[in-house]
Amino acid sequence: MATISQSFFFILPFLLYSRLDIASSAPGCGPLVADDVDRIQFALNLEFLEAEFFLHGALGEGLDQVAPQLARGGPPPIGARKANLDDFERRIIEEFGYQEVGHLRAITSAVEGLPRPPLDLSPQNFKKIFKQAIGQDLKPPMDPYSNTVNYLLASYVIPYVGLVGYVGTIPSLTNSSSLSLVASLLGVESGQDAVIRALLYKRESEFVQPYNITVAEFTRGISNLRNQLGMSGVKDEGVIVVDPQSGAENKTDSNILSADANSLSYARQPQEILRIVYGTGNESQPGGFLPKGGIGNIAQAYLNS
Ligand SMILES: *[C@@H]1O[C@H](CO)[C@@H](O)[C@H](O)[C@H]1NC(C)=O
Ligand SMILES: *[C@@H]1O[C@H](CO)[C@@H](O)[C@H](O)[C@H]1NC(C)=O
Ligand SMILES: *[C@@H]1O[C@H](CO)[C@@H](O)[C@H](O)[C@H]1NC(C)=O
Ligand SMILES: *[C@@H]1O[C@H](CO)[C@@H](O)[C@H](O)[C@H]1NC(C)=O
Repeated sequence: MATISQSFFFILPFLLYSRLDIASSAPGCGPLVADDVDRIQFALNLEFLEAEFFLHGALGEGLDQVAPQLARGGPPPIGARKANLDDFERRIIEEFGYQEVGHLRAITSAVEGLPRPPLDLSPQNFKKIFKQAIGQDLKPPMDPYSNTVNYLLASYVIPYVGLVGYVGTIPSLTNSSSLSLVASLLGVESGQDAVIRALLYKRESEFVQPYNITVAEFTRGISNLRNQLGMSGVKDEGVIVVDPQSGAENKTDSNILSADANSLSYARQPQEILRIVYGTGNESQPGGFLPKGGIGNIAQAYLNS
């Protein structure tokens, strides 16, 4: 916390826009000042994103068909479609999609729901992410919906961010009903991430066709990109680590779960999450999956700052 005299000039403009005091929160990576409702509503951004990506990927239809009331009139996502998945993986992704519907229902029965934000799940958006992750334009462009491996790599991009976000927000929650809800969301979110990572780990040395880049290299590239965009150090690791000191007890190069030196989950604050899902490295500059920015007081306060 800055002193009152230091904060005054910074806080003043924000009071015009929002009751959230983001200016006096630690700027880069520290916890921000927000209440339980704001924190839980913030999670809707990622839950909507995952629901649409998984439902469309497995079924070719999204919330508007499966549970239209949960979208609350927000616009349909752009660019999402049915992925060309093998049956085993398709059934897993279908389950994940319906799980996200349950999460949206649980969240909006605990706090007021919000309209679904504009979401960009187009191959063009993923193309930009993969380009940044791999450090070169992939030719031909990598279509996330064209086969199982591509879709799993695209899925690697999303639930992990939700998982570290929940780990980051839990210590700041103040009441037991919020804690109980978020702990239960975290449990399933981390399960989804583990399944996706294990499916990728099994294929780690395969080349992603038609590129000369392995599945493991892709996961490291995406993790490194998220570390760069998050701007808060290393909180993300690929499914195979090059440096065994990133493996469990410095002993493994397998890294099915991404975790710190004591194998504890990494935690991220909302501003880090926004920098990553916007793809801009800037919580005030929307883009990427959320071209118009996120919903809820936290995301809106950054957009107006
Ligand atoms: C506890 O948090 C929930 C959101 O999970 C909120 O709706 C409720 O108002 C909070 N209760 C108190 C007493 O702050
Ligand atoms: C593929 O990449 C490896 C190193 O990553 C390199 O040794 C090899 O020559 C490359 N093969 C082709 C066909 O580009
Ligand atoms: C793993 O390596 C790091 C960095 O050298 C070190 O700080 C840590 O104590 C090591 N952990 C174990 C369990 O040996
Ligand atoms: C972040 O984006 C906002 C809004 O576009 C801009 O005013 C600000 O300068 C950016 N910050 C950095 C560090 O680029």
